[in-house]
Amino acid sequence: MIKNNKELKRIKLYIEGLDEQLQGGIPEGYVTLICGTAGTMKSSISFNVLYNEALEGRTGLYVSLEQSAKSLLEHAENMGYDLSKINIVIISDIAKLKDKIQDIKSAKGGSLVISDLGTIRKEIKGTKIGPSGDWLNVIKNIIKKLKAEAQCDFFILDSLSALYVLSNFDDPRTKLFYIFEFLRDIELTTFLISEMPLNKSKYSEYEVEDYLADGIILLQQTERFRKVIREISIVKMRATDCNTDVFTLEYKNKKFYAMQGGKPPLV
Ligand SMILES: Nc1ncnc2c1ncn2[C@@H]1O[C@H](COP(=O)(O)OP(=O)(O)OP(=O)(O)O)[C@@H](O)[C@H]1O
Ligand SMILES: [Mg+2]
Repeated sequence: MIKNNKELKRIKLYIEGLDEQLQGGIPEGYVTLICGTAGTMKSSISFNVLYNEALEGRTGLYVSLEQSAKSLLEHAENMGYDLSKINIVIISDIAKLKDKIQDIKSAKGGSLVISDLGTIRKEIKGTKIGPSGDWLNVIKNIIKKLKAEAQCDFFILDSLSALYVLSNFDDPRTKLFYIFEFLRDIELTTFLISEMPLNKSKYSEYEVEDYLADGIILLQQTERFRKVIREISIVKMRATDCNTDVFTLEYKNKKFYAMQGGKPPLV
């Protein structure tokens, strides 16, 4: 059944001032690209969603191909997140996925599940399939199991760019089409982090990702009078009446804020 706009359940970005600008959030189950050059807080914004959803009792998977789970959590602690408030599950050995799923199920609230490069590399080495292209299959298998057995609702891939380096992407358009298809079918709300080139000439590597994605969120660092300002904008969001203005992004008192002219934007 096609849901009308009012019936769509929306997932908050947990950025004060911004969720109000996109009818309350991203439609559940949508695939969104989080684009930005290095250091624009792509990982932090994505982590922030999973952290807050875990506080609300929901579970999400963060696959980190760029930094280790340890480094990601150190960054989060440095930003002031109280990690003791949520259940953090690190999958460091896929052979033990069953036990981890049990941990998620027996936790009181939601869990933030992290799997990193080292874990997946270990799994690939342990199989006979050979190294190229299998990264994707390993990741897909984790997603499927967590969705089916641990009621996982969110998936973050950090980053698509790293996946391209690690996987065999000889026919990227076809491959990407099937990846997006898989993600939509599995009905997880997904963020795909996309590393943009320094000249910001494109949102994603092959540019088809822009069309395949339901939404694009752009993070930028802009120089003004020798001061560098962080900015955020919604480039597109399907089925959403959204404000595509560029907002200043601030992180203070352990919270993200989107501002316009130094003030929260008017709704
Ligand atoms: N406590 C803090 N408060 C505010 N900003 C911080 C804090 N700690 C780190 N940062 C900023 O966060 C930035 C990195 O954030 P993050 O790792 O989310 O960015 P990224 O876009 O994912 O980077 P990369 O391109 O390396 O993956 C750092 O460049 C730093 O300026
Ligand atoms: Mg990052």
